[in-house]
Amino acid sequence: MDFKKQLSQALNDEIEEMSIEQLEELVEVPPNYDMGDYAFPCFKLAKVFRKSPNIIAQELTQKLEANEYFEKIENKGGYVNFFVNKKLLVEGVLNDAFEKKEKFGSTNVGEGKNVIVEFSSVNIAKPFHIGHIRSTVIGNSLFHIYKFLGFNAISINHLGDYGTQFGKLIVAYKKWGNKEAIEANPIPELLKIYVKFHEEAEKDPELDDQARGWFKKLEDKDEEAYALWKWFREVSLKEFERVYDMLNIKYDSYAGESFYSDKMPEIINILNEKGLLQDSKGAKIVDLESYNMPPALITKSDGSTLYMTRDIAAAKYRKDTYDFYKNIYVVGAQQALHFKQWIKVVELMGYDWAKDCIHVPFGMVSLEEGTMSTRKGRVVFLEDVLKKAVEKTKDIISNKNPNLENKENVAKQVGIGAIMFQELSNNRIKDYTFSWDRTLTFEGETGPYVQYTHARANSVLEKSKINVSSEVDFSLLTNEEAVNLVRLLQSFAQVVLDAMEKNEPSFITRHLVDIAQAFNRFYHNCPILVEDEEVKKARLLLVYCTKNVIKTALGLLGIQAPDKM
Ligand code: ARG
Repeated sequence: MDFKKQLSQALNDEIEEMSIEQLEELVEVPPNYDMGDYAFPCFKLAKVFRKSPNIIAQELTQKLEANEYFEKIENKGGYVNFFVNKKLLVEGVLNDAFEKKEKFGSTNVGEGKNVIVEFSSVNIAKPFHIGHIRSTVIGNSLFHIYKFLGFNAISINHLGDYGTQFGKLIVAYKKWGNKEAIEANPIPELLKIYVKFHEEAEKDPELDDQARGWFKKLEDKDEEAYALWKWFREVSLKEFERVYDMLNIKYDSYAGESFYSDKMPEIINILNEKGLLQDSKGAKIVDLESYNMPPALITKSDGSTLYMTRDIAAAKYRKDTYDFYKNIYVVGAQQALHFKQWIKVVELMGYDWAKDCIHVPFGMVSLEEGTMSTRKGRVVFLEDVLKKAVEKTKDIISNKNPNLENKENVAKQVGIGAIMFQELSNNRIKDYTFSWDRTLTFEGETGPYVQYTHARANSVLEKSKINVSSEVDFSLLTNEEAVNLVRLLQSFAQVVLDAMEKNEPSFITRHLVDIAQAFNRFYHNCPILVEDEEVKKARLLLVYCTKNVIKTALGLLGIQAPDKM
């Protein structure tokens, strides 16, 4: 039911100077429903009619009459406020929701468009730590959101599997490494020798030269260097995949930095041909002074390439391979300059798709006990956080619902869901301090609260033992609690679109909390399994549609919705 269209049509009968489309564009949604479902502002009409907006609004309100679509039309200041017919509203939304089920809220804006979402992009031989949770969880959610909207979404993990640090690691391994220890416990052991390298290199700078030498060898595909590198990568990736499995994250591609090592000469050639490369003490740079940025460093004086060069090569490869509509990078705000620089270089190379490369930044996570430092070994492993959340959830379930089937599995879904939900609750750009306590409380506006609401809806539906249908008397759902809930279901589609446009999953998280709260108010004030069959059927339909929307929305955040908790 398109109330906006109806309203614009009615206005058009009175205001011939403007088209229906022009009128529709002016229609607003008031900040709260006491002021109506829609408001038509008359300020722009003052010039046309040479009257004050208040008078115009008054006159329009007198002429327009309540009809089957609008139960009340009211004038306030320069606005005409429209109150929709609640039965029609509820009927329209619930019929739609019932019919589309888990697709309700989705549109096909993305049809035929490829969107790359690059996220997590952790570094080989380094801890997958709490700082990575942001890119990982935000990126995964964006991936699901794009998919839901019909885009062909592609998830990429741009692994940090290349660069001078591998020279350091090779030196460290050859000096202090122990094969068995590393195989048994890869990341902590590799981290240990990496940390030792930095301590020793402070005393003996010669080690840094050796490291550079070994990285150069790696770039030249030296057999020993390559074999070690490959092994570091394999044992690390196995560890990472365990965490991705816990988070239910799957990648279409793990093409990391090393994947582009043979694709860089081409980039350097193009830069040369376009006259963009300059010499700077043996290094090659692209000068970006006229754009108020430091130069983009393309190759070092020893000829080895850099992080930046690999990003340029990766972007071009992605365009050639996927012909992306958008190429999204979910990477911390500290790298904003890096992204601005290389995207500018791509633009200077003459590629108009530079504008489709989008850096989606987020704020920092710090630790209560001070900043994290991989080199100093001060880290909180993400896997430990997830495991602790699951353990704690298991305790809670054993207390509250000892006979629950599938306890282990539910504890995983709820514990990990709690962490993900909290991560997606705030605007991504905000910094925050990681706290065990806050992460593991299940009170308030949290994932477990929303999941519990879903399970509660499911349990009523199961208990009812009837097949939900949309053949109900919708006038039985026009009370305040029901209508408020229906309105939230109605706006779900718009919230998803906004989340996609702003690359901001927290819009969905917050909407989901609103839905859960509205549902719980409805549930408490409007008993569902009552004698009156008609009332019961109508209320069950609303429960059913709400349950589906909650499940869909949790899915967009990457979170599961257990049927029982
Ligand atoms: N591995 C990098 C880091 O840990 C992040 C990679 C971000 N993605 C990119 N295309 N530069 O800082």
